[in-house]
Amino acid sequence: MAKITVRKDASLLVEGDDVTVVDWNGKEYPLARRPFTLCRCGASTRKPFCDGTHSRVGFAAAEEAVPSSTDRLA
Ligand code: FES
Repeated sequence: MAKITVRKDASLLVEGDDVTVVDWNGKEYPLARRPFTLCRCGASTRKPFCDGTHSRVGFAAAEEAVPSSTDRLA
């Protein structure tokens, strides 16, 4: 089972052994370590992975989980 944690003003922390990250062609990105983090600020030079740049650019995201959210996949 995978767990994805939305970190405050930072990346997405992905935990779990049965997780792969693929591009739009289905090609797998090599995972050097687990857990790993995915960029959500858009500033990483190692996308889709986080490289810590969010701290330098002052990334701020206020969203929190809302139990009754009806959001759909984009
Ligand atoms: S979230 Fe870390 S570089 Fe974007």
